[in-house]
Amino acid sequence: MNRINLISIFSILLIFASFATSTPLKRQDQLTGFKQCQGTFPNSITVLTYTPNPVVLGQNVTVHIAGKATEVIKQGTTLVYTGYFENEPTKQAFQHQVDFCDTFVKPNGSECPVKEGDYSFIGSWLLEKHPNEPQNLVMEFGFNISVFDPNGKILSCLDGPMKVYYP
Ligand SMILES: *[C@@H]1O[C@H](CO)[C@@H](O)[C@H](O)[C@H]1NC(C)=O
Ligand SMILES: *[C@@H]1O[C@H](CO)[C@@H](O)[C@H](O)[C@H]1NC(C)=O
Ligand SMILES: *[C@@H]1O[C@H](CO)[C@@H](O)[C@H](O)[C@H]1NC(C)=O
Repeated sequence: MNRINLISIFSILLIFASFATSTPLKRQDQLTGFKQCQGTFPNSITVLTYTPNPVVLGQNVTVHIAGKATEVIKQGTTLVYTGYFENEPTKQAFQHQVDFCDTFVKPNGSECPVKEGDYSFIGSWLLEKHPNEPQNLVMEFGFNISVFDPNGKILSCLDGPMKVYYP
């Protein structure tokens, strides 16, 4: 009896152990805390990673963006990023845009238009530092990152928090 109990306890432990080891590692967050905005958008973004983190003003940021496009990415497409003060989501802190084709497509050795389907690009650009900005401070903003076609139609939209270092 005792022996059987021991064996069954042992097998239960083994089952737990095998569950524990077969549980897949928590998948790394491919969107770095961002989520798709409410609504539907023709070109999904499934990967958005960036270095450095926090981003540093006066230095380049390097962004990997990937997803699936159901609409052609045309010449003149822009990526617009807007920062909001976290505790006041309606209060815009800044807004900048980069040319999607120049920043992401060309450095990848491709050209716009980019046809529908899976896409994956890495681009870098300088985050300008302006006078009268805070110094030696990290601030977190709510970011909205949206991609617009040349006619202003929204193709993709993510929002999430991002930290900015003011050197
Ligand atoms: C970007 O470049 C990589 C490597 O050359 C290539 O595999 C990939 O297809 C390119 N992405 C697009 C969307 O053209
Ligand atoms: C910053 O990015 C720009 C645009 O891609 C590039 O031309 C430049 O070489 C980069 N600078 C550094 C220091 O990486
Ligand atoms: C992000 O910006 C887009 C384009 O301006 C807008 O439609 C959307 O409502 C914004 N989303 C959030 C969560 O701020």
